[in-house]
Amino acid sequence: MAEEIIVTRGCGNLSGTVRVSGAKNSALKLIAAALLGQGRSVLHNVPNISDIDIMIEVLRSLGATVEREGHTVAIDTADATGFETPYELVSKMRASISILGPLIGRFGKARVAMPGGCKIGERKIDIHLSVLEALGVTFANDHGYLYASSPNGLHPAKVFLDFPSVGATENMLMASVTIEGTTVIDNAAREPEIVDLANMLNEMGCKVQGAGTSTIVVQGVPLADLHPCEHWVVGDRIEAGTFLTIGALLGGPITVEGIDPDFLRTVMMKFEEMGATVTTSEDSITVQRTEPLQATDIQTLPHPGFPTDLQAQFCLLTALAEGRSVISENIFENRFMFAAELNRMGSDINLDGHHALITGVSGLQGAPVSSPDLRGGAALVIAGLAAEGETRIHDIYHIDRGYEDYVGKLRSLGASVERITV
Ligand code: UD1
Repeated sequence: MAEEIIVTRGCGNLSGTVRVSGAKNSALKLIAAALLGQGRSVLHNVPNISDIDIMIEVLRSLGATVEREGHTVAIDTADATGFETPYELVSKMRASISILGPLIGRFGKARVAMPGGCKIGERKIDIHLSVLEALGVTFANDHGYLYASSPNGLHPAKVFLDFPSVGATENMLMASVTIEGTTVIDNAAREPEIVDLANMLNEMGCKVQGAGTSTIVVQGVPLADLHPCEHWVVGDRIEAGTFLTIGALLGGPITVEGIDPDFLRTVMMKFEEMGATVTTSEDSITVQRTEPLQATDIQTLPHPGFPTDLQAQFCLLTALAEGRSVISENIFENRFMFAAELNRMGSDINLDGHHALITGVSGLQGAPVSSPDLRGGAALVIAGLAAEGETRIHDIYHIDRGYEDYVGKLRSLGASVERITV
């Protein structure tokens, strides 16, 4: 069967400017949140990626009308009466579980297929369920579907998350905005995408305070008082970090525009520790390197710690740095599949549980490789740009889930990269 692959050739230094798209992890939840507006909400700066296509289908399956033009998506949820999301959609993308919170907020019930998605760990949903149960939601397993209902009505709650799960914080937030009284989410996730979601909810008439800190306070507003809104999705910090990796790896300078540098403070610190120079403006970051890369140790942590979604990219940087580095993956238990592929290109990475022990090598060789997941796939393409000879990257549907026109943006920096069908 014909397959699209990405082919790269090692091409020396790259430099230039890339405008990042809207954040995937924000836009997905904002589309789901439109359900609470019960009218025609308009989102701008929505990335053209396949995960967004799936979330749009999820909304359509509930009866919403969705129009898309360029990076603008209009979602009319006035006539959305469905509360069930089909297996065909949820099994393709774990983030479909984000529809659970808005469905509960709007209808007090939901029937959602159990999620699938990236194979980067067990990815349980126990925290989602326990925080929603605290609001009065009851769950039953129903032939592969999760049936959520609230037979005794919903009530506000004070919850403390076991772990600051991004998805659980978002679901709790979206479920609680229409519950009369005060709900408090403690040990909440602090990712910029949570702030973006809270901003949109407030634009719809919700009363959410504290997003971006560990304590989020929600004053419930009757559903009937909420209204649609027009909202701009924040820039994608992970896409930004991915392109900046090229500046650190090959020399640059690479500038990313459309991103708040505050979102990437830990990452910028690591670039500097490794010997790169970082400069920022209000909405751009530039990375350049003139000296050899130096080894560093990295621990992935919830925001504002180092993001797990940039772990593979930094694994690549350390693989070509002088000295030995240790990367510890603390968020997802199975996220070193990228390392095995990179070793096929000549890196020296040994895995020990959730630690990767990396000894820098002087160069990589082009090889046929497979994208293990979204971020690992994007990092393999960059590895191919740094390697000697040709690299063929398979399973690129992973990359299409989260990077808009990845090849086009790389080519605009002068990269020798193309998509071909084999
Ligand atoms: C989101 C992002 C993903 C990012 C991750 C961490 C989206 C669509 N995806 O994923 O790109 O890598 O945040 O920044 O926004 N966990 C449980 N039980 C739960 C929920 C989570 O054990 O109920 C565990 C997960 O298995 C994982 C860890 O907590 O090991 C982090 O998960 P979470 O923060 O929820 O990430 P996601 O929202 O799935």
